[in-house]
Amino acid sequence: MNQITPLYPDLEQALFAEDMVAGLSRSPKATPPKWFYDAAGSALFDDITRLPEYYPTRTERALLDAKGAEIAAAIGPGRTVVEYGSGSAAKAIALLSQLQEPAGYLCVEIDPGAARATAAEVKRAYPDLAVRGVAGDFTHLEGEVMAGRRPRLGFFPGSTVGNFPPEEAGRLLGAMRRHLGEGAQLLLGADLIKDRATLEAAYDDAAGVTARFNKNLLVRANRELGADFDLDSFEHRAVWNAHQARIEMRLVSTRDQTVQLAGRRFVFEPGESIHTESSYKFDRPRLETLAAAGGWRIAQMWTPADGAFSLSLLTAD
Ligand code: SAH
Ligand code: AVI
Repeated sequence: MNQITPLYPDLEQALFAEDMVAGLSRSPKATPPKWFYDAAGSALFDDITRLPEYYPTRTERALLDAKGAEIAAAIGPGRTVVEYGSGSAAKAIALLSQLQEPAGYLCVEIDPGAARATAAEVKRAYPDLAVRGVAGDFTHLEGEVMAGRRPRLGFFPGSTVGNFPPEEAGRLLGAMRRHLGEGAQLLLGADLIKDRATLEAAYDDAAGVTARFNKNLLVRANRELGADFDLDSFEHRAVWNAHQARIEMRLVSTRDQTVQLAGRRFVFEPGESIHTESSYKFDRPRLETLAAAGGWRIAQMWTPADGAFSLSLLTAD
């Protein structure tokens, strides 16, 4: 009897394979950044947040601490916090410690380990709070069963919104507005446009942690999809594209090579790259356009004195 054995028993792996095949078939080659975040990728991102060159995490955190009371007053009492792409629990706990009578906390996080650990840590910090961690993709919120009382406050920190091209980012903010329901608010962290040297150093640190984070995509593809990327034949690159206001992160092939993935072969010429991530940066007009595209308006915006980062409170029109 013929037995059909699935190539990838795990749905997540099948989606990963599909995205990698589609991305490597494209010209120029480009893959979605969400696949960086397996357990090793999440740990590497955590290391990035502590690098001297990577200013966004500590700048946003300092802003949240410095302006917390003001932000909490603008938000008001009794909100259920829904965090998208939480990573660690640090910012959630910082926000919850400022909010007036939060009604609950939920995170939607693609890395199951991070979703579990973050929910557990928030519960430890706030034992009386209704807490839930969902291992899921926040770009597919339609099917997401919503827990928690209204009104809800979405929390989308870290400038993760910048990892989406403007049109997709607008659609994503619209989906979040619908997901959060009536009376929704969204606290959005967004990195701001600044000089090339600061930006490029933040994505190409001296210790090479961002390079390892970038290459982890290939490590993961080798392990989970049986691909045969030769890690030494790809170089990390991060370049500021001022015209499009984005950092472009790439893995550049150092030689002529063929890579096998999911039964397919992909040819790389020397110098040919995979565009693995964009990190768009913003200014006030760009953020207003983005908010409006998602059906939001900026009620208030907070920035530090040096203008390095922004937190905006969006309200639904
Ligand atoms: N919010 C944290 C972490 C940012 S890193 C901070 O500000 O420091 C981006 C986080 O979003 C990672 O934890 C990653 O696993 C998660 N993520 C990325 N794409 C995602 C998606 N499509 N759905 C859910 N989570 C996602
Ligand atoms: C998660 N995201 C906002 C990070 C960023 O800055 O774009 C991911 C990252 N990529 C390289 N360093 C950090």
